[in-house]
Amino acid sequence: MAKVKTAYFCQNCGSQYPQWLGQCKNCGEWNTLIEEIVEKSPTKSFSERSKQHIINIIEVETHEEPRISTPSEELNRVLGGGIVLGSVTLIGGEPGIGKSTLLLQLALKMKKKILYVSGEESASQIKMRADRLTELQNPHCYLFTETSVEKILHEAKKLKPDFVIIDSIQTLQSQLIESSPGTVSQIRECSNEIIKYAKDSNTPVFLVGHITKDGQIAGPKVLEHMVDVVLNFDGDRNHLFRLLRANKNRFGSTAEIGIYEMVSQGLKEIKNPSEILITKKFEELSGNSVAVTLEGNRPMLIEIQALVSSAVYGTPQRSCTGFDSKRVNMLLAVLEKRAGFQLGAKDVFLNITGGIKTDDPALDLAVVASILSSNEDIAISEHFCFAGEIGLSGEIRPVSQIEQRISEAEKLGYEKIFVSNLNKIPKKKFGITIVEVSKIEDFHEHLF
Ligand code: TYD
Ligand code: MG
Repeated sequence: MAKVKTAYFCQNCGSQYPQWLGQCKNCGEWNTLIEEIVEKSPTKSFSERSKQHIINIIEVETHEEPRISTPSEELNRVLGGGIVLGSVTLIGGEPGIGKSTLLLQLALKMKKKILYVSGEESASQIKMRADRLTELQNPHCYLFTETSVEKILHEAKKLKPDFVIIDSIQTLQSQLIESSPGTVSQIRECSNEIIKYAKDSNTPVFLVGHITKDGQIAGPKVLEHMVDVVLNFDGDRNHLFRLLRANKNRFGSTAEIGIYEMVSQGLKEIKNPSEILITKKFEELSGNSVAVTLEGNRPMLIEIQALVSSAVYGTPQRSCTGFDSKRVNMLLAVLEKRAGFQLGAKDVFLNITGGIKTDDPALDLAVVASILSSNEDIAISEHFCFAGEIGLSGEIRPVSQIEQRISEAEKLGYEKIFVSNLNKIPKKKFGITIVEVSKIEDFHEHLF
């Protein structure tokens, strides 16, 4: 009997070792090496690719990447103008965030021949979900519930779809490898085959990828290098908003984001996020303020709430949702040192409404405004908004793309925006009152 050849693969980074080790030498993770059977000769795919020859860069003909425009404007924007033919896109996200819904919706709305492969749900489950997404109709959407990658690609070559969706890459299995689905070698092998199919037939493929506890796409990191686009679908599962971002895009920028809302008929696109995020005008309550942030290149207004109360325990609590708690601690320290606010004995709770998570430093000014407002129990006018970063010496620093932020605030009917005095703003251009502040001490005076 032929000896079975095995090797040890790091489940975190995909490195291969001839024997077991406690710690992966490549990524430093402990206990991630798992024995897997390697049967395929590694030279095969190499020799197939060697048809290419050397060419001078001047002689290379360029052409616009042919793209399929999808019915979803948000998706088009994130992809940089549509799906590029022959591209492979990996979309990752937490369970239940709506990856399957997003792609099924796309399949049902596109006027193209689509192959939807699911290794996770039965055809009737998918049909039931499709029925929930009522107004969608595509007579050329084909379902295939299969996990063998050879069979899938065989059928795909026969059907010749315009577009293939695979949900998910972790459920696929190649007959060439004996290890179970979801292992590094299976994922690598299956993706390799799929990428080859996509490039050879010029068919775009969407792959769904599961993510691990710490938010990485499960499987080898090389998978992300192999595909053309890596999208991340994220948002708080308990909230309604979902953000689609590109972590990598060979055909466009990674700065754009798409915003969706999960409703009972599936995912709804949100064209103007600011309006939704602060539609319900809060009655003038203390602790609320509005920040002008930037998601990708899109300015967006979000509401920040703070609650400052006397500490019940010796050590005051600081709790933040949607904002970096270390940054809040820093802002509190700056307030204490530079503006003399005694917040040391107070609990501070901070929340960004709508389940949005952001690390835009321009939020600092609004966060401080909310904290001050709650601390003194004086409401901030609902017509005010803020965009400024705060430095350690209490100075208010300019933020990027300030003019875009100001126009967004103006468009949404705000009357006053607080910004740093270091931005060179052509004030005459705007109808909104621009208040320029330089120091956190002065900010307090302007505010109340
Ligand atoms: P799903 O697409 O199955 O998530 P994933 O594939 O990322 O795991 O999303 C399922 C969630 O979305 C589920 O919890 C129910 C919710 N949902 C709606 O609220 N409305 C709908 O119309 C659909 C189809 C799902
Ligand atoms: Mg799913």
